[in-house]
Amino acid sequence: MNYKIGIILGSGLGGFSKELLNCETIFTDIDSFHKMKIMTGRIFDKEIILFSGRRHYYEGYNSEKILEFVDFAYRNGVKLLIISNAAGGLNRNFKVSDLMLITSHLNFLKTRFPVSGNLLPYENKTSEILTDISLRKNINLRKGSYCCMPGPNYETKSEINFLSKFGIDAVGMSTVPEVMFASEKGIKVIAISCITNLLSVNSTGITDHTEVLEAGKSSYRNFSEMILSVIENSDLLISNEINAD
Ligand code: HPA
Repeated sequence: MNYKIGIILGSGLGGFSKELLNCETIFTDIDSFHKMKIMTGRIFDKEIILFSGRRHYYEGYNSEKILEFVDFAYRNGVKLLIISNAAGGLNRNFKVSDLMLITSHLNFLKTRFPVSGNLLPYENKTSEILTDISLRKNINLRKGSYCCMPGPNYETKSEINFLSKFGIDAVGMSTVPEVMFASEKGIKVIAISCITNLLSVNSTGITDHTEVLEAGKSSYRNFSEMILSVIENSDLLISNEINAD
């Protein structure tokens, strides 16, 4: 099948660009806080568009700017979009460096995004296929609900308490607008959090961006293996059928 795959890389995961064959950088904005970059190339003979350094709500950007990568992906024929992020883990079973497939979300951003009706971005079939892939690769893929906070601060104890009580498994400051907009545009979405730190009301530590970047790098092996397998099996995901191997 002929289609393009988009991948939005979260903090600390930029190294994935080395997986691209015939890698070409087609856009850079080094002035932005997260150093925006768009690259193209091939993996398993699929055309890939790789995005790193996304724009966040907490940087003061409007919805158009926040959704720039997804809009670019849509206009350039992406049919499957893998969206990754760095996130704090609330679920007590999680460890730093775990990967979590997002199966639902809670949105605390106070911006209107151009999405209309009832969206079903997190499909059961997609989740089943990813479970299957992770088992074959021996990767402990967690599943859970992600909350998008406005930031820029990491969560207070009260926020941690609140989110835990309402069943949130991981928290970050991105992804939800991208998931909703991509889904609205008919793009199949896979959203994965890399758990870079653990949040607990009892913890005395303070999360900082350097810690998040370092943990993102340490989860890189699992992340890259998982994403490579997703690309290898993307025909299955696009056609939404489950076949053995
Ligand atoms: N909170 C919000 N965003 C994050 C976190 C966190 O603990 N870790 C990485 N991104």
